[in-house]
Amino acid sequence: MGFRKKTVRDVEIIGKIVLVRVDYNVPMKDGAIVEDMRIRASLPTINYLLEQGAEKVVLISHMGRPKGEKNLEFTLAPIAARLGELMPGKTVEFCSETTGDTVKTAVSNLPSGGVILLENLRFSPAEEENSAEFAQAILDATGAELFVQDGFAVIHRAHASTDAIARVVPAVAGFLVEKEVTELEGAITNPEHPLVVVIGGAKVEDKAPMIEQFLPIADKIFVGGKIAADGYEATDPKIYVAEDFVEDENGNKMDIGGESCMKMLQDIHTAKTVVWNGTMGYVEDERFAKGSNVVAVAMGTNKNGTTIVGGGDTAGFVEGLIKENPELKYSLISTGGGASLELLSGKKLPGLEVLRNA
Ligand code: 3PG
Repeated sequence: MGFRKKTVRDVEIIGKIVLVRVDYNVPMKDGAIVEDMRIRASLPTINYLLEQGAEKVVLISHMGRPKGEKNLEFTLAPIAARLGELMPGKTVEFCSETTGDTVKTAVSNLPSGGVILLENLRFSPAEEENSAEFAQAILDATGAELFVQDGFAVIHRAHASTDAIARVVPAVAGFLVEKEVTELEGAITNPEHPLVVVIGGAKVEDKAPMIEQFLPIADKIFVGGKIAADGYEATDPKIYVAEDFVEDENGNKMDIGGESCMKMLQDIHTAKTVVWNGTMGYVEDERFAKGSNVVAVAMGTNKNGTTIVGGGDTAGFVEGLIKENPELKYSLISTGGGASLELLSGKKLPGLEVLRNA
């Protein structure tokens, strides 16, 4: 099954002001960007639009959960600065509003071929309320004639910038959404076998739907992480739950142990499809990162398979590992945490459904 939605390739770009929903909800510390994977992942679509002659590209995003209030702890200003560094030779500006005359003036003053990032959408409660008026106000202020959804990580939300807006202006997918959805849907609809699924993380209620989804099609499902440590019980012979654990000084189970790693290693390394979501232990402390390391290396050195790392903490961990070990290769490291989990659990994603069908 191919990608079902129209993409930027299917529409006229030249001369248009294009509004692109990206997900720049990146980890920050003391005002500095900790990890810019989601910013880098937005570049192919932005560059394509400019190459195709877009008059201007207006980017919209959220960051964090400021709960409808203007809290500058969550400003997108540092993201615009980073984007500017990643796009040398291009004009990249920031606007401190999302609607109204400030935006109108900023967009009209932006030179042709320029990029502008508007302030955090969630500074207004209207964003999460999926307000049609807010969506219209963004369109009115920016003058955009085309909407591109490329914020894969937020596509599971029905918000003004993911749902309402796509109902009033031609709306297509960007390359990141196309790539993520194609790879992740491929794993649940038409995977090459053997298909090995590795599940970890902390909350069993988050991961159980994914286990259910994969049970009929997977050849093996390995369960580690806190859900295994908390006593997750296998309901099927093809599910293997980690049996030994590394403990901290207080006897808490913090990582899967060497025997459990050995049980998974070969299958992961030789599978034709591997899907991994959820770390095997408390990776923030390197004493408890071994289990996740074993999974990441077995996947990253699997030369014949499609290897998919579902987002959130797992993707962050793998990105960190790649910096030290650039030889590790993956088919997809998803930028989406909740979004990839929902897609892999077989749920419909509102921000995808609303886009024009191919
Ligand atoms: C994420 O980081 O998963 C996305 O940016 C969505 O953020 P949210 O969970 O606050 O909606």
